This record gives sequence, C-alpha cells and structure tokens, in this order.
Amino acid sequence: MSNLLPIVLLIFVNFSQVYGHGGEDHEKSKPKKEIQIDDDGFEIVSTAPSQEVIDKINKNYQTNVKKIFSNKCLSCHGVNDSPPWYYHIPGPKQLMDYDMREAKKHMDMSNDFPFGGHGSPVDDLNALSKTIQKDDMPPMKYRIMHWDSKLTDREIKVINKWIKESQKILIQK
Ligand code: HEC
Repeated sequence: MSNLLPIVLLIFVNFSQVYGHGGEDHEKSKPKKEIQIDDDGFEIVSTAPSQEVIDKINKNYQTNVKKIFSNKCLSCHGVNDSPPWYYHIPGPKQLMDYDMREAKKHMDMSNDFPFGGHGSPVDDLNALSKTIQKDDMPPMKYRIMHWDSKLTDREIKVINKWIKESQKILIQK
C-alpha cells in the first residue's frame, strides 16, 4: 500500500499543475480578499473593513481593553509615560529602547485601534489571540521586574471577549 503513495502524490501534483492555475488574472477586477485561517482551520474571510466597523471595534477597545493594555502593554507597544527608575541607567535604557522599537514594529498601540505596525486589523486580532492563549506577553524578562504585569484571568476574559466580538463584526459587514 505504501508503494502507492509516490504515485498518488505524482498524480495530485500533475493534476494541480493542469487545473490549479493560480487564478490571479481572473481576480484582478475583484476587491482584494484577505483570507485568514485560524488554528482550528476556521477560515475568516474579509475584505478591507469599513470605517464604521473599525470605529465600533475601537469604541469597544477604548471602553474595555485600553485600561488593561495601558497598564501592562503600552510601556513597550505605545508611549511610555512613566518609565521605571532603571530606565535612566545606560544599559537597561538601550535594552528597553530596543524592546520598544521591536514591539512597535510588530504592534503599535499608541493611537488605539486599528493598531499600527505591520499587521492588518484581522492579523492583529489573530496575533493577540495567539499571544494571550500562549501567555507570551508581556515577555518573561519584563514580568520578572514587574511582577504584577501578568494578565489576570479576568483581564484575559475581557480581552478575549473583545477579540471574539471584533472578529465577528469584521466578518459580518
Ligand atoms: C517589555 C516590552 C513588552 C511588553 C510590556 C509587551 N510586549 Fe508585546 N512584544 C514585545 C516585543 C519586543 C515584541 C516583538 C518580538 C516578539 O514577538 O517577541 C512583541 C510582540 C507582541 C505581539 C506579536 C505581534 C505580531 O505581529 O506577531 C503581540 C500580539 C503582543 N506583543 C502583545 C502584547 C500584549 C497584549 C501585551 C500586554 C499584555 C504586551 N505585548 C506587552 C515587547 C513587549
């Protein structure tokens, strides 16, 4: 049976070369679609979101999530209003400047939602969902210095609710 596998693969490859011709030319006139597949294989299909949708998501963000992020994320992903005392020591200062540059390249939360950085609104919500699930943020080295910066269960619930709600609105439109 296992001998058949290369043959099956060969047929499949040939088949897709003949029939799977990219389709790019056909799609040119249609609005650009953004297709995201999450970890469960769930496909989130969306075109660029309207301003109305963005405003709705941002309003929910400002009401519920921003205060959490201000406390625990914005010192790297936004404007650091009150840097800790050790920020002023050469060494820690360079390390923190580097972290802030890197963090903002990925996700700049300075001006609320949609976040700046390299991701689209859909990308950013997915990335947030993932980091929160994996408990990746804030980074461990930061938590050691700021032992109260870990997200609490209640905060995680609020953030996840906002993410889910926003993803729903983005798909509905
Ligand atoms: C000490 C600085 C620091 C803090 C505080 C911090 N982050 Fe980050 N974050 C980074 C850095 C640096 C990166 C980019 C490198 C990486 O992924 O580790 C990053 C990346 C991310 C990403 C990935 C973005 C992408 O495009 O894949 C997300 C999402 C994120 N952070 C969310 C958060 C959230 C939510 C918080 C608060 C609960 C937070 N971060 C707190 C430094 C920080």
